[in-house]
Amino acid sequence: MTILVLNGPNLGRLGTREPDVYGATTYADLVDSCRETAADLGIDIDVRQTDAEHEMLGWLHEAADGQHPVLLNPAAWTHYSIAVRDACAQLRAPLVEVHLSNVHSREEFRHRSVVSPLATGVICGLGITGYELGLRALAAMSPA
Ligand code: DQA
Repeated sequence: MTILVLNGPNLGRLGTREPDVYGATTYADLVDSCRETAADLGIDIDVRQTDAEHEMLGWLHEAADGQHPVLLNPAAWTHYSIAVRDACAQLRAPLVEVHLSNVHSREEFRHRSVVSPLATGVICGLGITGYELGLRALAAMSPA
């Protein structure tokens, strides 16, 4: 079973984007780290990033139809996209929501997630380590 690791808008710009908040880790580093974790766990993953909401919705529909577990960083969509929320509601395997930063220690508008009520679990504030933990959790929950 392939776990989909789905990243929303602006995450492709990690490394140059607000380094005071997100650090120097690049998106390529994040992908490499996920692949190392997957190799360690002996699982298949597919890591993707998009700035286009319709593309993310298509990937979530694919996950729903294929019963794939999902590790999702919805980025800014977390806070307002009912469309992403409704796509998550269709998933039939576990969903882990992950954020690099601690959204609860940031601006008020980041404290609300429309996705969290649908998630099996939520991880935030641990940087790319959060992705490793999310993959480990999903692997433990998922049949081989
Ligand atoms: C983020 C937090 C969001 O509030 C923000 O819009 C992002 C990244 C994170 O990983 O910390 O783009 O999801």
